[in-house]
Amino acid sequence: MPTQAELLNLLRWHIDAGADEAIGDSPTDHFKAASVPERMQRQAVTTGRVQAAAAPPSSEAPRRRASVPLSLESPAAAEGSADQLANAASTLAELRDAMQQFEGCSLKHTAMNLVFGDGNPDADVMFIGEAPGADEDREGLPFVGVSGRLLDRMIAAIGMDRTSAYITNILPWRPPGNRKPTTNEVTICLPFIRRHIELMAPRVLVLVGGTSASALLGRSEGITKLRGRWLVYRSDDPGGGFEIPCMPIYHPAYLLRQSALKRDAWRDILAIQERLQSME
Ligand code: URA
Repeated sequence: MPTQAELLNLLRWHIDAGADEAIGDSPTDHFKAASVPERMQRQAVTTGRVQAAAAPPSSEAPRRRASVPLSLESPAAAEGSADQLANAASTLAELRDAMQQFEGCSLKHTAMNLVFGDGNPDADVMFIGEAPGADEDREGLPFVGVSGRLLDRMIAAIGMDRTSAYITNILPWRPPGNRKPTTNEVTICLPFIRRHIELMAPRVLVLVGGTSASALLGRSEGITKLRGRWLVYRSDDPGGGFEIPCMPIYHPAYLLRQSALKRDAWRDILAIQERLQSME
């Protein structure tokens, strides 16, 4: 039996090697491991003792570790149930509850928390990013890590903060290992962010990064082409659709890697300020 110190050393070794989180796309139920360990089966096959050593007690064939079934729904069915849940919500609190109930997106099962939104629900401006990262997942709030600090500075540059602006993401759950969300994940969760926008009804939307811009505008151009342009977001609210001016901007995580682009980002943020002032 390893000692506590040995186990801690092993853990430290994994962390130093970068293995500091569970990053499988779906959780594995290790308690449901095959009744006959795989190693024994392999050994039995190579020694020809398949019947004697490896046959499982029942007639059922031995299984590998079972993945927990996350959703029996197809992506289209999951999107349909997201749509139903989202449209039934008539307040932000109801929408949040609906998202907590939703079982159609496997990201929910690997995330620690639902990251719904932060800031002033009556804000004139709503910033929409991609998906929570590790810090956001831990705290249950959007943009609280390194890129969040840069976004806060960008918002502060136009005289606002989280008491006057509102921040959320396309996806409310963190993709494992901070990978890019898949098209399916975005499509399945889209009804929730669309309803979120309808319930907020901001005067201006800021689409933070390429994933947010392409998901909400349905356009295929990259963020370099879209940023800095005033475009229109169209709500398809069954109670009466509406249009909101929106501007895609570079994602702060991208700006942290490409600091030469900060000048363009600065220009975009000033254009957003001007637009908001012209609406007063
Ligand atoms: N990146 C995002 O797009 N959203 C967050 O909440 C954090 C990082």
